[in-house]
Amino acid sequence: MSDYNQSVLTDEVIKAFGNAPSERLQVLMQALAKHVHAFAQEVDLTPEEWMQGLQFLTKTGQISTERRPEFILLSDVMGLSMMVVSLAQARNSKSVEGATEATVEGPFYWPGAPEVALGGDIAEGVSGEPTYYTGSVTDVAGKPLAGALLDLWSGDGEGSYDVQLSPDPSMRARGKIRTDENGRYRFWSIRPTYYPIPDDGPVGDLMRATRRSINRPGHIHMMVSAEGHVPVTTHLFVANSPYLHEDAVFGKRDSLVVEFKEHPPGVAADGRELKTPYYTVDYDFRLAKAAE
Ligand code: BEZ
Ligand code: FE
Repeated sequence: MSDYNQSVLTDEVIKAFGNAPSERLQVLMQALAKHVHAFAQEVDLTPEEWMQGLQFLTKTGQISTERRPEFILLSDVMGLSMMVVSLAQARNSKSVEGATEATVEGPFYWPGAPEVALGGDIAEGVSGEPTYYTGSVTDVAGKPLAGALLDLWSGDGEGSYDVQLSPDPSMRARGKIRTDENGRYRFWSIRPTYYPIPDDGPVGDLMRATRRSINRPGHIHMMVSAEGHVPVTTHLFVANSPYLHEDAVFGKRDSLVVEFKEHPPGVAADGRELKTPYYTVDYDFRLAKAAE
């Protein structure tokens, strides 16, 4: 009978991580060791299964690039990204009470979107149904925040992001808008449609093997920030979009679901003439004060 005892093994690994000079790293690695050992024991993991798991992680690394972050996608479909978002929110719950809820950033954020004039179109030349977005950015008491920044990104009318369309993409359906002196914003884009998460890599294989839906409901992304306030990374979801109740990455929050009001062709509120039906959306973002 071997003297190899599973709980001694786990204890030894935990002890080995006990010398990390960073206390936080020690806590993270010891807990990770404890939980992966418990996972292997719970499912009675076989060598073949673990080799398959390692091959999956290897493929996840191999397909990853700056514009194709497959590990973020894996974290998203495991619900881990939303868990971390939710933990951050709970940790700051006192300070962010009343603030707009956060959701996943996802893999398609691209820093450096162009500044677009207030009222401008961030999706010029992009397919999709024109939509006029308006609203305000305020603090949690409703005080308008002038000069607040909305860093926006959206898929097109077919649900594709610029970074998915070519290996050397140029930016489209992205823009930075600043609120006016009354904390108001306005811009044109398109009505986002539902779309599948990238499924031509190992995460797609996992979704198919487990018969999971790969779709996300229609949404537009934004990071909203203002001096002296806690920034929020969030979406606006299209009410009644397919997949609203089976988001592949668990990102939907009821407070972020908004009505896209349909209008016949004609002149919009800002004087723009539309030859096709168009939509309007109105949503107020609320930011919590940052700690002093
Ligand atoms: C997105 O909304 O862009 C997204 C989020 C998570 C996974 C894939 C896409
Ligand atoms: Fe998205």
